[in-house]
Amino acid sequence: MKKILKNFKSSPHSSIKWDNYFEIYENCLNRFVNKNITLVEIGIGNGGSLFMWRNFLGKKAKIIGIELNPEAKKFEKYGFKIFIGDQSDPTFWKDFYNKNGKIDILIDDGGHTNLQQITTLMESVENINNGGVILIEDTHTSFMNYKGFKNPSKNSLINFTTNIIENLHRRNPMVKKKMNDLSKKIYSIEYFDSIVLFNINKKKLSYSKNLHNNKNLNPHFIDYRFKRINDKKKYGKKNFVTGFLKSRISKKGLINRVYENNIIKKYLKKIKN
Ligand SMILES: C[S@@+](CC[C@H](N)C(=O)[O-])C[C@H]1O[C@@H](n2cnc3c(N)ncnc32)[C@H](O)[C@@H]1O
Repeated sequence: MKKILKNFKSSPHSSIKWDNYFEIYENCLNRFVNKNITLVEIGIGNGGSLFMWRNFLGKKAKIIGIELNPEAKKFEKYGFKIFIGDQSDPTFWKDFYNKNGKIDILIDDGGHTNLQQITTLMESVENINNGGVILIEDTHTSFMNYKGFKNPSKNSLINFTTNIIENLHRRNPMVKKKMNDLSKKIYSIEYFDSIVLFNINKKKLSYSKNLHNNKNLNPHFIDYRFKRINDKKKYGKKNFVTGFLKSRISKKGLINRVYENNIIKKYLKKIKN
């Protein structure tokens, strides 16, 4: 059994987590065990997860909880720091990071609405130490239109993160767009069932500056992407007609675009089913 699952089960207070989360926690948080780090969890509920984090990470870890319900302050007697506030309020976050400084792990298990998740993410990215993570839970709410989640919508957390995927690609010099703060801070994004994980690491970002050529020679291969092939032998008898037609149609032209879009549409249909 995963160590963190044992810590979950043996917690003296109740906690609710989906069963696929434990493996993800263990894989992305193992490197923080027995380190002087700060973990912040939004959403305390009955407090059980605070004990789980502490038992998993060890005594050196500082565990902070954030909660809307003022009663959560009672968990301070167990050595946790508790802040009462609303995760969808940007001024709460400014004040929080002013008081606590940068943190290493942020777990968002709060209210799970679009505004709460997005505000938390955007107000926190700058406040995570290099090598740290932001882990947003219950992201299936991006696809729920009941319990007040009003999704799917263009403002769901998941849709919002796809814009950040574009930001990461700005690090490649072939994309002619200015780097922004997110491009300079988020190393990678990982998607799981109901969890999105942001890996924060400024130091790893320099890798995409150069396109490496292992022999330092000019490439002398024929790039077939740009070659027109209308030779019977190459296509074979069966595919000759399609092959011949394809070779006559400009890859940049409208007909080709319609053809490509049609194929992609079919694959999209498969995804949406
Ligand atoms: C799913 S429970 C947390 C469960 C807990 N992490 C556990 O493992 O058992 C969600 C918690 O988030 C709190 N919450 C809801 N909206 C919030 C908000 N806007 N800001 C801070 N906490 C919020 C709720 O009061 C509730 O205690």
